[in-house]
Amino acid sequence: MLSLVDKLCERRSLSVDEYERLIAGRTPELAEELARRAVAERKRVWGTKVFTRGLIEVSSHCVNDCYYCGIRRSNKQAARYRLSPERILACAEEGYGLGFRTFVLQGGEDPWFSDERLCDIVASIRSAHPDCAVTLSMGERSRASYQALHDAGAERYLLRHETSNPLHYRRLHPPEMSFERRMRCLGDLRDIGYAVGIGFMVGSPYQTPHDLAMDLKLVEEFGPQMCGIGPFVAHHATPFASQESGSLELTCYLLSIIRLISPGILLPATTALGSIHPQGREKGIMSGANVVMPNLSPVDVRKDYELYDGKICTGEEAAECRCCLAARMWSIGYEIVVDRGDPVDDRRIQ
Ligand code: 5AD
Ligand code: FES
Repeated sequence: MLSLVDKLCERRSLSVDEYERLIAGRTPELAEELARRAVAERKRVWGTKVFTRGLIEVSSHCVNDCYYCGIRRSNKQAARYRLSPERILACAEEGYGLGFRTFVLQGGEDPWFSDERLCDIVASIRSAHPDCAVTLSMGERSRASYQALHDAGAERYLLRHETSNPLHYRRLHPPEMSFERRMRCLGDLRDIGYAVGIGFMVGSPYQTPHDLAMDLKLVEEFGPQMCGIGPFVAHHATPFASQESGSLELTCYLLSIIRLISPGILLPATTALGSIHPQGREKGIMSGANVVMPNLSPVDVRKDYELYDGKICTGEEAAECRCCLAARMWSIGYEIVVDRGDPVDDRRIQ
């Protein structure tokens, strides 16, 4: 197994079969070795810096019906809200004062956020704070829409592919959604010139080691600038209510492998990881992650953006989350920085 690790470090690439063997054959010792090498890579490229992204959850309305997600259309118990442009700008304003230089606007697929409205919001944030980046995470839209948003000043887009096996995709989503369309969106985003984030859940229902190996191959071949991975966590009002959560240890193992595939990738230690273990985010950083995404949403709506049960930080103010994370990072020898945290091209890293 160690020869596979050597090969991965040397070539930044393995075959799907090899990734699968690495996943299926994992042991605590192998995990430790991968984490050691991943952290060495991240420190070589990024030092001990951890970038922050201020997450603004703009809408809990969603036209989609993904089986895993708490804000899916069919969940009639979900409380629905949408932030006005004024409130979104106020969140960014507060975040700027706290030291955020990237804002992530995330929401369900909510038609209220038309191109016109969303472009206005993006342009207003960019003109108020030209030293900040705006990242969108608003789901599948048309190519024309992505283009308009890019023209308005959005430079980055997060759209998790969720799983790279089309058959597995079908089991996580209703028939009207398709893996092909998801990949078409990701291709459009990249062609337009966005820094693109893909990503997947670890331990989602029906997932096999082979599926995860395909996810790693996609990271390698698509070459995204960001990759969001976190454990699947059940939500009580979804078809997957009684499914088991993904594990901390497998998520961290995959974070290490992704860091070794792509030394320059922006890799968050996600809120979901922090939600399944009190030190989940710290462990993510110690496995090779280099980004954290504290919540900047107004406290009165936070509990309504409930993608899964037990989500942390739903009662804390933005300043509390930033301070809490700064202390957590400090405690493990890292520091959060006031920086846009732009991606680095792997080809420029020797
Ligand atoms: N558990 C973990 N992550 C989830 N997401 C949605 N529902 C869940 C869940 N139950 C993730 C999806 C989505 C992102 C915004 O949140 O991967 O892309
Ligand atoms: Fe929100 Fe710790 S990051 S309270």
